[in-house]
Amino acid sequence: MKWVIQNIQHLVNIRTNSMVLRGEALSNLPMLENAYLVIEDDRIHAFGSMSALTDEVLDGAGLIDAAGASVLPCWCDSHTHLVFAATREDEFVDKINGLTYAAIAAKGGGILNSAQKIANASEDFLYEQAMERLNGLMQLGTGAIEIKSGYGLDPINELKMLRVIKRIKANAPIPVKASFLGAHTFPLAYKNDHESYIQQIIHDMLPTIAAEQLADYIDVFCEEGFFSVSETERICKAGMAYGLKPKIHANQLHASGGVELGVQLGAISVDHLETMSTAAIDALSGSATIGTLLPTAAFFLRMPYQPARDLINANAAIALASDFNPGSSPSGNMNFVVALSCIQLKMLPEEAINAATINGAFAMELGHELGSITPGKLANLIFTKPIPSLAYLPYAFGSNLIDKVMINGAFI
Ligand code: NIG
Ligand code: FE
Repeated sequence: MKWVIQNIQHLVNIRTNSMVLRGEALSNLPMLENAYLVIEDDRIHAFGSMSALTDEVLDGAGLIDAAGASVLPCWCDSHTHLVFAATREDEFVDKINGLTYAAIAAKGGGILNSAQKIANASEDFLYEQAMERLNGLMQLGTGAIEIKSGYGLDPINELKMLRVIKRIKANAPIPVKASFLGAHTFPLAYKNDHESYIQQIIHDMLPTIAAEQLADYIDVFCEEGFFSVSETERICKAGMAYGLKPKIHANQLHASGGVELGVQLGAISVDHLETMSTAAIDALSGSATIGTLLPTAAFFLRMPYQPARDLINANAAIALASDFNPGSSPSGNMNFVVALSCIQLKMLPEEAINAATINGAFAMELGHELGSITPGKLANLIFTKPIPSLAYLPYAFGSNLIDKVMINGAFI
């Protein structure tokens, strides 16, 4: 079926060819005012100015009146922990009472708390919960998502999480990528025996994950008190031997060398980046590895924000993602991620929108399918309520300015 969407106030992020954006190019957000858009089946077919809308374009098409809405490509959220068994608002209150993230982790809270809950949850329960969350995120404009394991921490439960993600992938209407994060933290029993847990990851988890095609990427939490740079390297290389590309948690709490390692390994992305050294910024400068900033994690944990301006000035390619998880970012609302990036990271609205769409798509190797208004790409689109300008979106943070969302050419 062919549809012509008329009277679009701003048609945002129109591109004929797409590539990852860095430096000054990140602030170039091509737009067409007073535009039409042609959708054929689940794909974007063409676009143009209303003044150039001909009978030929309209021929045989259904009509949709956007009535002054702005239309953007859906958010591409390249870093989430969407599968979890229970929320952790008790720890949130602990933090208000003065406990640190590290102190909560040390008393068995944090990731280990989530792992205990996963162990007691069925695949069906985890699937239903995650699909409900995913549907909520789609209403908020997310049109592609990456989901990690990492709350299993043993072969049975890591594989359980990854099978849940595989089921989400098969049934969700939007593209889903899976990352294996068995190396999220050391289970208590292996606190003083790292080697045995690493052996489990390499010999008991990875072969099955590869055989059942349960993951696209290998992820490690490279951080003091979690996985060292050399442990991260071994685990990433073991995953790479099975064809899993690295996409790692780096430089969240310390400038641990995770960014430099990720670049050296040719990681798709290095994610978090709250704590950046000059060496880490230099490593990302001009690199094909994308630096994925997770500002809502910094916000929620009251950490320093990611140095977005330094990274942009250094010609690093940066993306924005939600890090949706029960511990450090209990929200997957990409509209707030974009607003926070403008408010606290001092990204321009154009830069933040590019980082959350086209660069987010590339951080999931989906740059050819999503992230811009480009003929041939999937018609996963955000229709806003009437807005005075594009900058109004991050400016009016906290207001839901999305009127409707189109996924695969149909409104949801
Ligand atoms: O990306 N930093 C490591 N992992 C998650 C937090 C996990 C949790 O606290 O449950 C993150 O922020
Ligand atoms: Fe994360």
